[in-house]
Amino acid sequence: MGQTPAVPNHIAIVMDGNGRWATRRFLPRVAGHKQGVESLRRCVKACVDRGVGVLTVFAFSSENWNRPVEEVSGLMDLMVGALTREVPRLSKDGVRLHFVGERGGLSEKISAGLVQAEAATAHNTHLIFNVCFNYGGRWDIARAAAALAERGEPITEVSLDREMALSHVSDPDLFIRTGGEQRLSNFLLWQSAYAELFFSDKLWPEFDEAALDEAIGAFQRRERRFGKTSAQLSSGAERARQPA
Ligand code: FPP
Repeated sequence: MGQTPAVPNHIAIVMDGNGRWATRRFLPRVAGHKQGVESLRRCVKACVDRGVGVLTVFAFSSENWNRPVEEVSGLMDLMVGALTREVPRLSKDGVRLHFVGERGGLSEKISAGLVQAEAATAHNTHLIFNVCFNYGGRWDIARAAAALAERGEPITEVSLDREMALSHVSDPDLFIRTGGEQRLSNFLLWQSAYAELFFSDKLWPEFDEAALDEAIGAFQRRERRFGKTSAQLSSGAERARQPA
């Protein structure tokens, strides 16, 4: 009997399509984001159940400030609501929360809520859940380089990697984008160097357990070579590994 292929340890998701989901129902875009939170709750639970170690989602990008004022404030309200409502449930499921992104520019209420949610879930071990909020991949790289330069330290792949916002987890194995578009949109640019990409036509509010399993199944059928040849991998002499 063959071995069961491994579930990806780290899944990253661009949750696209909330606006279209709402518009198709003649609802305001914020209603789509609200439904997106429901979808996210389901996805987190599904990841816990499947033994995924890390889930990282793009909840609000550095560029999302340019959206209409009512949409931005709707997203901020959703975050405040989610922090109050979801944290006890997440904690019960053993989920540890990390918020990743620029804290400056966020309201006092949200900043304090992020700190509290991280502290309240710090002891959990089933799933690390990174919520990227006011985040951009370029912001992350530039910030890490600036921190090293300020301390007069050499800028190398290893030192940069240690300085990045996701240095507490390994790189994503599977990068999912919903909503039919096929681009990275400034998400985890550094960390996704060897991620397997999976694009789903489903809008994020419709992305359910079966859709997640489809993405995981596609991942399990891929051959990850990390720059090596297929023959090297099958000889078993040298194991594929990520660069240090
Ligand atoms: C992209 O869809 C989605 C976002 C910009 C926000 C994603 C946020 C959530 C799923 C809710 C969780 C977030 C918080 C704050 C708790 P889009 O609006 O670009 O959709 P479109 O491409 O159909 O317009």
